[in-house]
Amino acid sequence: MANLLGIDLGTSSVKVLVADENGKILSRGSADYPLLTPKPGRVEQDPHDWWQAAVMAVRQAMTGHPSLDGIGISGQMHGAVLLDHADHILNPAVIWPDQRSSPQVKEITDLIGRERLIEITGSPAATGFQAATLLWFQQNQRDVWRKTRRVLLPKDYLRWRMTGEFATDPSDAAGTLLLDGRNRTWSLHLLEQLRIESRFMPPIHLSLGEAGQLHPEAAAEMGLSSGTPVVVGAADTACSLLGAGMTASSDLLLTISTGGQLITPAKSFVFDRHGQLHTFCSALEPDSQQAGWYLMGATLSAGQSLRWLRDSIFNMLTAEAYPQMIAWAEQARIGADGLIFTPYLLGERSPLMDSQARGTFVGLTIRHGRAELVRAVLEGVVYSLYEMYLLLVENGLRPERVLLAGGGARSRFWMQLVADIFGLPVEKVAVEEQSAYGAALLAGAGIGLFDVVQGAQDWAKVDVQADPNLKAHAQYQELQTVFRAVYQNTRHLFGLN
Ligand code: XUL
Repeated sequence: MANLLGIDLGTSSVKVLVADENGKILSRGSADYPLLTPKPGRVEQDPHDWWQAAVMAVRQAMTGHPSLDGIGISGQMHGAVLLDHADHILNPAVIWPDQRSSPQVKEITDLIGRERLIEITGSPAATGFQAATLLWFQQNQRDVWRKTRRVLLPKDYLRWRMTGEFATDPSDAAGTLLLDGRNRTWSLHLLEQLRIESRFMPPIHLSLGEAGQLHPEAAAEMGLSSGTPVVVGAADTACSLLGAGMTASSDLLLTISTGGQLITPAKSFVFDRHGQLHTFCSALEPDSQQAGWYLMGATLSAGQSLRWLRDSIFNMLTAEAYPQMIAWAEQARIGADGLIFTPYLLGERSPLMDSQARGTFVGLTIRHGRAELVRAVLEGVVYSLYEMYLLLVENGLRPERVLLAGGGARSRFWMQLVADIFGLPVEKVAVEEQSAYGAALLAGAGIGLFDVVQGAQDWAKVDVQADPNLKAHAQYQELQTVFRAVYQNTRHLFGLN
């Protein structure tokens, strides 16, 4: 039986798992790294931290598993690692929640034209996307930009450290805003307009393709055998679709991690003309059996909102903090007794596309305590996801169920909130580390063990299910309009709006 390693370079940690060729998980590893926020609106990570964490997590997962047949890599999207002529890192990686590039987002949109940009890339410009970050460097850190010779996405940096090969894949390239999404090639028009030399960009290979083999130095650090094949891999969202077995269906995958995403596969390059959703390439090549794209709404601060409450407000440092907070929330009533939270702690992507949006608690009274605060945060995150759901429905989606993934799926209470607010049955995917699971699956298909679509169907499993409480759903429908009104009525109070 072959053993496959899946690595997911996430936003707050790297998650690693070893699966056999039937998708049975044999072991896991993980290691955290910090988000660096040197100034307001700036969010960076040190690629060396990624590497150290990956080494630790792989070593942890490999204890007792002497042989590996293939490695697949997934990772957080959009970020930028800049390398000089000698392939030295020029700057901490600027990652997806970073907001420094607000002016550049406007500039790109004006220069290319909003509609044209969406037609080419499938997505509106957003802060943290590589194109906007690169323009920021051009304009604000000329010394760094002058020395730049290569630009890598986070997972592609990791793979380069493992194999020495520069490469990316259509799913991750799509998140740069420099890809012609329909044709799955770099858009020379966009590169030229933004004065980014095309030779800075890595070649685009299929997610299933082999991107070299583990070189001896990396193998020694990770405790693996040199020469192990490493496949190209895909963006975390694309890998999570695969891990959930969603290769063509019109189901809905909802991931609650640091950020939250609502994703559905698309068999053609369809996009939201209003630019409130993103269309990105999937890890699969388009054909009649498999969806080459997906439509996605992304909220920036999902699990992050709860984490903020835990760390910055409650200062709860124990491992039991989250279960304790959820237990408090369970004591509060539906709607947190009139308390509404908007989770725009990092600005917001879908559907607002407003980096100046800000979080709010509205309706506080003297009777509110920690139970209502936690419940309002959990509900607010789901309200924001439901707003994206409504957009997907407007774009033709008719899902019959929601598949729930990510760390948020661990909480039965949060899962029930999703069922009640969406008014749909929710099934939790059995493997929480969906993106690492999808990456391992890509490794297996990439080295020829099975067909990727068949493998995804065979591997995907769900366990717990929650059915909507229709009475609660009706109450939440009313609260949803209040939630929507909060942003509409406060947006002018923040930033430039
Ligand atoms: C997707 C996005 C996030 C990151 C999180 O557009 O911003 O999902 O990929 O890891």
